[in-house]
Amino acid sequence: MEQYIIKGGKPLVGEVTISGYKNAALGIIAAAIMTEETVKIDNVPNISDIQILLKVIEDLGVKVDRIGNHKVKINASKINTVTADTDSVRKIRGSYYLVGALLGRFNKAQIALPGGCNIGSRPIDRHIKGFEALGSEVKIEHGLICASAEKLVGTSIYFDESSVGATINVMLAAIMAEGQTTIENAAKEPHVVDVANFLNSMGANIKGAGTDVIRIKGVSRLHGSEYTIIPDQIEAGTFMFAAAASRGDVLIKNVIPKHLEAFTAKLLEVGVTVEEYDDAVRVVNHNRPGSTHVKTLAYPGFLTDMQPLMTTLLCLSSGTSIVTESIFENRFKYVDELTKMGASIKVVESNTAIITGVERLTGAIVSAADLRGGAALVLAGIMAEGYTIVENVEFIERGYEDFERKMQKLGATMAKVDSNDTKAIKKFKLKVS
Ligand code: EPZ
Repeated sequence: MEQYIIKGGKPLVGEVTISGYKNAALGIIAAAIMTEETVKIDNVPNISDIQILLKVIEDLGVKVDRIGNHKVKINASKINTVTADTDSVRKIRGSYYLVGALLGRFNKAQIALPGGCNIGSRPIDRHIKGFEALGSEVKIEHGLICASAEKLVGTSIYFDESSVGATINVMLAAIMAEGQTTIENAAKEPHVVDVANFLNSMGANIKGAGTDVIRIKGVSRLHGSEYTIIPDQIEAGTFMFAAAASRGDVLIKNVIPKHLEAFTAKLLEVGVTVEEYDDAVRVVNHNRPGSTHVKTLAYPGFLTDMQPLMTTLLCLSSGTSIVTESIFENRFKYVDELTKMGASIKVVESNTAIITGVERLTGAIVSAADLRGGAALVLAGIMAEGYTIVENVEFIERGYEDFERKMQKLGATMAKVDSNDTKAIKKFKLKVS
């Protein structure tokens, strides 16, 4: 097990370049197996969730060539099974896109139920509803999602509530269905649009991605393509909030500022300066942030993934703030860890955090329980006085590429050490004291 050790209290200053979007890459890699021709994908983030998905498709018989750290060439002409039932499949959330992709191409898929961050019950009923509407039979048997159809036929699907995963999965399954499919109340998140753009580059006919009605005309086949994944809006948001929380000055490069508008709006509201450029944002803050109220919502609302980072920034604010989580029911696990560092946060009715700003946080030993909550603890460590140890960094590495290296480059005093290596911790403390 590895952990981060951080000596806090220093502003982050400099430039950071954002990697490709994990949640888009998961959908795009699954989509890439829907053609027999070769697909080249660029700006693939080098993180554990992506390495796991690439391994899972290799196990299906797909040829995967990694070119350097961020490019991958995929050829799925020799897929030899539609069944994926390994620990790797169960570890990540994005493996469920293989159901839509394999069902769409072969009319059959048997994929182990997905894992991913434990942030709530995370049912997949909307995915199943969509597959069934297209004419597939879907059963959950022996821990597998088993979907099969004689043929898939386009139809109209209405989601009572939007779901990113279900929208992408149903889009995949509908690409080569007979006739037209309409997805109403579709998710509008940037990664839904990116997966649709990628599929269109392979010859699909998808219109309306990014709005709440997506129209898909079934095509008979998909072909090879070369595609570059969009920048990760959550990684960008994390560095924006880290710059603000550390009272620093950071230029965050390779971003799409439009995707960051909800974060920018909240930062401006608490008194942080945000300058927008074509493909960069600069975040500057020298003061204690003000207080605010935030509710997580589907895009273009304030993203649930940024909720732990927002709460953490507000720990040192000058007033009382309220953060309401409306997407996942169990996304405040990191709060207990923040209170060990001196934060004053009360969670009521399990979905609302009331944060009373304190003047300082102090370093402590804390433990990551999920990806974004873990990143929030690193932010807290950077904001705190003294030493913080963040345990279970494997959660953070699921979704952030070179996290500690990027933070170090901005001046954070931080290192990754083995949990049992007490000497390394002593050495770090000696070096930075
Ligand atoms: C995606 O999860 C992301 N994961 C999550 O990011 C992100 O938090 C979430 O979208 C919201 O933006 C990936 O893209 C792999 P949903 P997903 O389906 O697709 C409920 C991260 O840290 N729901 O939009 O699972 C669900 O329980 C991760 O990068 C159903 O009830 O989210 C939730 O309350 C964590 N039935 C809401 O809908 C369903 O069939 C939205 O979920 C599907 C979803």
